[in-house]
Amino acid sequence: RQSSDQLIIDAGQKQFGATTCPSCGMIYSADSLEDNFQHTQFHQRFLDSIKFVGWKKERVVAEFWDGKIILVLPDDPKYAIKKAEDVRQLADSELGFQQVSLSCPSKAKTYLYVSQNRMIVGCVIAENIRQAFRVLDQTGSAKDASKEDFMEQQRAWCCSSRPVPALCGISRIWVFSLMRRRGIATRLLDTVRSSFMYGSHLDMEELAFSDPTPDGKLFATKYCGT
Ligand code: ACO
Ligand code: ZN
Repeated sequence: RQSSDQLIIDAGQKQFGATTCPSCGMIYSADSLEDNFQHTQFHQRFLDSIKFVGWKKERVVAEFWDGKIILVLPDDPKYAIKKAEDVRQLADSELGFQQVSLSCPSKAKTYLYVSQNRMIVGCVIAENIRQAFRVLDQTGSAKDASKEDFMEQQRAWCCSSRPVPALCGISRIWVFSLMRRRGIATRLLDTVRSSFMYGSHLDMEELAFSDPTPDGKLFATKYCGT
């Protein structure tokens, strides 16, 4: 009895085959040699990139029950810059950005969310800006579009042509896939708003998201609406 149940389960896995690695979060087909290889390649590099050993000088800008937020500034020691850069590359590869450089790396501020088990599970890169263009709401037009059109619309934005003033550009926001929907991105942005400009708290309207992904849009809509 037991063995025939087992057989069915195995067959199911063979057919649908998607596994999520509990440590790195990669979704892959365990049956495919190619996928297994890609996972092995990715796994260690990912864990090395998000590993946080602790620094002699850490600029802790917020603390929570499950972690803390560290701010890395452009003139910080090499090891801090290197870590911020490693995490940015991870986020970029997940976002599908290819070599998108920051508009002004010498001014970018990187906020890293460090979990209690010493992993960097979230990252925001914020830059000084002066103006932004609103992404126009397309919910109406997307309804009767084909799937391809819809995906295209999700990627290519309709922006208003009139700039609005903004102070802080969110050029990257990323949370480790296994740690999403726990308020980490929210806490990162709250911290950006309270610490980005010395001595003043930024309003929601003073933040601008660059090039949001579908996830980013859903998050930003919720965040800006509250
Ligand atoms: N779908 C629907 N609603 C969402 C989603 C989603 N994928 N993500 C967030 N929200 C909304 C929810 O209402 C959520 O509240 P709830 O969980 O109580 O319902 C609220 O936003 C707050 O979400 P957080 O938990 O604070 O967000 P999280 O820590 O999960 O991070 C993020 C969100 C950064 C978008 C994450 O999903 C991610 O890293 N995605 C992949 C990378 C990406 O697309 N980043 C945005 C790129 S845009 C840019 O970089 C400028
Ligand atoms: Zn893995």
